[in-house]
Amino acid sequence: MRKNIVAGNWKMNKNLQEGIALAKELNEALTADKPNCDVVICTPFIHLASVTPIVDSALIGVGAENCADKVSGAYTGEVSAEMVASTGAQYVILGHSERRSYYGETVEILEEKVKLALANNLTPIFCIGEVLEERQAEKQNEVVAAQLASVFTLSAEDFSKIVLAYEPVWAIGTGLTATPEQAQDIHAYIRSLIAEKYGQEIADNCSILYGGSCKPSNAKELFAKPDVDGGLIGGAALKVADFKGIIDAFK
Ligand code: PGA
Repeated sequence: MRKNIVAGNWKMNKNLQEGIALAKELNEALTADKPNCDVVICTPFIHLASVTPIVDSALIGVGAENCADKVSGAYTGEVSAEMVASTGAQYVILGHSERRSYYGETVEILEEKVKLALANNLTPIFCIGEVLEERQAEKQNEVVAAQLASVFTLSAEDFSKIVLAYEPVWAIGTGLTATPEQAQDIHAYIRSLIAEKYGQEIADNCSILYGGSCKPSNAKELFAKPDVDGGLIGGAALKVADFKGIIDAFK
């Protein structure tokens, strides 16, 4: 059975003290009122070692927002998947559109990152999604199919361990959200590609999250769609009331 997941992506927000305070507040809120889905917070690297011990791992998983495409060595400023795992983190966002567009992450680089994440027992939350011009040209299906090449070289066993996030770039941080119907259409298409490649059972078990201006006011409608299994949340993950409002869409 696939899992429903609400994952926060803090991006480059919150200093260490602010991040610890946010994680504590979320932990308290979810301890008092248990979620009906898996909850994950993905934080800047420097927060990981401080945040993992203060959240109840039965309620909140912790993840990084990126990791290196190399195992170890002379790569100044990089953080490896092994280092991420050594903090107690269990997840890593890979292929976010901001990494693809600002830091030149290609299908090939992302394939390496996914493999290293899995080799270190991290669950990749692998992001795909088209930009506005591609949507206007009705090329979104082609775009996501090409981006999936980074994960379609995995064995069936490894593919079963990953989570996908469909994030239309035109909806990220813009206040524009895909309609529930737009999200459902492309999530169903993504699932059909997985079924073609790995079979229906693996496709049915794969969690596909929606991301892009997801808020308490639209989460319920989006998550109600049969192929939308939760959300990857940016801006609304920075306030406990908003993030919990989205988590509560599963109640
Ligand atoms: P947003 O970001 O919720 O602020 O649109 C989503 C994301 O980039 O993961």
